[in-house]
Amino acid sequence: MHEVSVDAPVMLQILVAGYRLNYIIGMRIGNLNRPHPAILAPLAGVSNGPFRALAINAGAAMTFTEMVSSEGIIRNQKRTLSMMKFGSNEQPIAVQLFGANPDVMGRAAEITAKQFSPDLIDINFGCPARKVVRKNGGAAVLKDLQLTRDIITATVEGARSTPVSIKIRTGWDEDNPVHIEVGHIAQDCGAEVITLHARSRSSGFSGKADWSAIKALKEAVDIAVIGNGDIASPQDARRMFEETGCDAVMVGRAAMGNPFIFAQINHYLETGNLPDEPEIGDRIDMARNHARLVVQHFGEERGMKMMRRYLGWYVKGFRGASELRPRLFQVATLADMEEEFSNYISRASQW
Ligand SMILES: Cc1cc2nc3c(=O)[nH]c(=O)nc-3n(C[C@H](O)[C@H](O)[C@H](O)COP(=O)(O)O)c2cc1C
Repeated sequence: MHEVSVDAPVMLQILVAGYRLNYIIGMRIGNLNRPHPAILAPLAGVSNGPFRALAINAGAAMTFTEMVSSEGIIRNQKRTLSMMKFGSNEQPIAVQLFGANPDVMGRAAEITAKQFSPDLIDINFGCPARKVVRKNGGAAVLKDLQLTRDIITATVEGARSTPVSIKIRTGWDEDNPVHIEVGHIAQDCGAEVITLHARSRSSGFSGKADWSAIKALKEAVDIAVIGNGDIASPQDARRMFEETGCDAVMVGRAAMGNPFIFAQINHYLETGNLPDEPEIGDRIDMARNHARLVVQHFGEERGMKMMRRYLGWYVKGFRGASELRPRLFQVATLADMEEEFSNYISRASQW
């Protein structure tokens, strides 16, 4: 049994499920027993502290940081290290590292575990971004399975008692699926969880994620499997559990501007009933709350610039969004945002 102290009196108890630490993420938090939890995905440029706090508050079972450069960590780069800071209201949390040099990944994992004490250290083997794969990081590692092995081994060693997970795609391209092989490697090397975004690197975000790959991986390994790819609704989450037998699901794009999805998934999984969609007022309140957190975290000038894209996501589907969105893209202060929302609400009351 492996227990991680999260935030007294909240206690994350990682349940026993097989290999080595017999671990996972079917979790009990306080009195809440959440056997089918939904996790916030690592989202570069999006899953920063304020957004993670909102996701946990909305019912996410766990959060992931944006991917963090292992090279930046060992060089003690201020901006990189700032990406790894988190508050207890964002936990349980995984800090996600990327890099192609096993020695550097090992040292970065050691620093991460010692200085930040996350609940999990995750390795990014899925990123298709050119600036990452050019240096052989992210999904490029899936082309060289000896390197994959070396990176996981070094990271597990560096992380010591902090559990390690990996996040992968099915392979570099459609013709060379390696998820099962990588699953076995991860297990052999002491990783305890594996997240599969069920697409190859070459397919980017196109087509449909192939959930049968998640099922095959779950059947092939004893460590926990988190399923990921194309969950856009509570029904999708349930279908992924049913079709794949995965231990947890991870939600990325559908959570952007929509932290409500975690509560909706939990409600649906627990009761079988679909919750009502949040009202426009609820969405605006969530956006306001988000903006306040972002400003606290990053200051008003930088924070409100960052907030513009989230605001665009929050108003998706609003009547008149095509007029509102460009106005929100120009807000520079919290007061500007408040003014835009008040004007919108008074216009909307006349519709
Ligand atoms: C804007 C954006 C940023 C992302 N950044 C990361 C990242 O830093 N690390 C990572 O492993 N995956 C990253 N991903 C991939 C997501 O974690 C997830 O695997 C993918 O979006 C599929 O899940 P979804 O269909 O629920 O969105 C990113 C995806 C998006 C859309």
